[in-house]
Amino acid sequence: MSAPRLESEATRLVLGIETSCDDTSVAVLERGTLLRAHLIAAQDVHKIYGGVVPELASRAHLELLPRLFERALAEARVAPSDLTAIAVTCAPGLVGSLVVGVAFAKALGLGLAIPVVGVNHIEAHLHAAALERGPSPEPAVALVVSGGHSELVEVSGFRRYRWLGCTRDDAAGEAYDKVAKLLGLGFPGGPLIDALAERGRPDAFAFPRPMLESRDLDFSFSGLKTAVAQALGPHGAPPHSERLLTDVAASFQAAVVDTLVGKTMAAVAATGARAVNLGGGVACNRELRRRLEAACAARGVVLRVPSPRLCADNAAMIALVGAWQLEGGVKPDPELDAAASLEDSGLPVIAADAS
Ligand code: KG4
Ligand code: ZN
Repeated sequence: MSAPRLESEATRLVLGIETSCDDTSVAVLERGTLLRAHLIAAQDVHKIYGGVVPELASRAHLELLPRLFERALAEARVAPSDLTAIAVTCAPGLVGSLVVGVAFAKALGLGLAIPVVGVNHIEAHLHAAALERGPSPEPAVALVVSGGHSELVEVSGFRRYRWLGCTRDDAAGEAYDKVAKLLGLGFPGGPLIDALAERGRPDAFAFPRPMLESRDLDFSFSGLKTAVAQALGPHGAPPHSERLLTDVAASFQAAVVDTLVGKTMAAVAATGARAVNLGGGVACNRELRRRLEAACAARGVVLRVPSPRLCADNAAMIALVGAWQLEGGVKPDPELDAAASLEDSGLPVIAADAS
């Protein structure tokens, strides 16, 4: 089954809520296509700590969410009573952050007497490209690369997923953030390394392409981070020359991108996919986009990359998948709760050995 056609009353005006990590986001989505409002507040409070501090994230969601909700409704020019359903991220993520969104959604749903559906954050990233490009050709391979995840998934329909690979240690975005720390850069490190890499030589350092030769479709990025640390010399101090800094950034990025592109195209070959859908914050990376574009074109496969706002954590993708669930007959769960891990999130996955 492809993405459901949105015809039921519940899908007319869906409020999306995303609070799984350090971005608070609210969207109002009409019939799964028209984004009437979409606000994302990145929480700057984490910058000085060089990473996301869970307690600060939940507190910031508590403060920001009601304000974003009001502003989103004003921007969409709708009253709360116009909303027909609420979709909220319920897993995976930081549990304290998820709970803020889920509690807000449940209280609002009760007050307005409209259905509330819990949406899996990774499932939403798998489909984010559909917001701008419509339903994907199938089967498709989705690559979700963010601060918390590196997942390769075969998508053969809505709710028909086969997990092909994931990271065995650090996620791709996590590797970017850790290497940025080694290089004395700020947080989040991905965009900073992306910018520096444009000016560096990608072949200046022969960093490993982790697991590129392995037969499976898993990733591993922690060894690459160690290789970067070693390249910085015995004391591991951040480079003091601009040339060294840009060369390390470009060489590190080349290794990550080679690995991501290599595994994604291996997944395409293994599944006969007709499209590649990209999602997650690392999907903003310019080199990754360029290289995947070339690889997909050479194979005659469509590459679908969301615009940067829809790659990173956002409520629009949550509203979309929530609307599909409602249309597909998924019943709202009054006991809806937050779950931290992907394994506990109840995502319907076809077993890896199923055809
Ligand atoms: O999806 P996201 O906004 O949040 C979650 O982690 O769920 O992804 C954030 C991650 C961070 O690790 C950040 O460094 C990385 O995405 N990132 C990038 C780029 N922009 C963001 N990594 C590489 N290149 C970029 N341009
Ligand atoms: Zn995410």
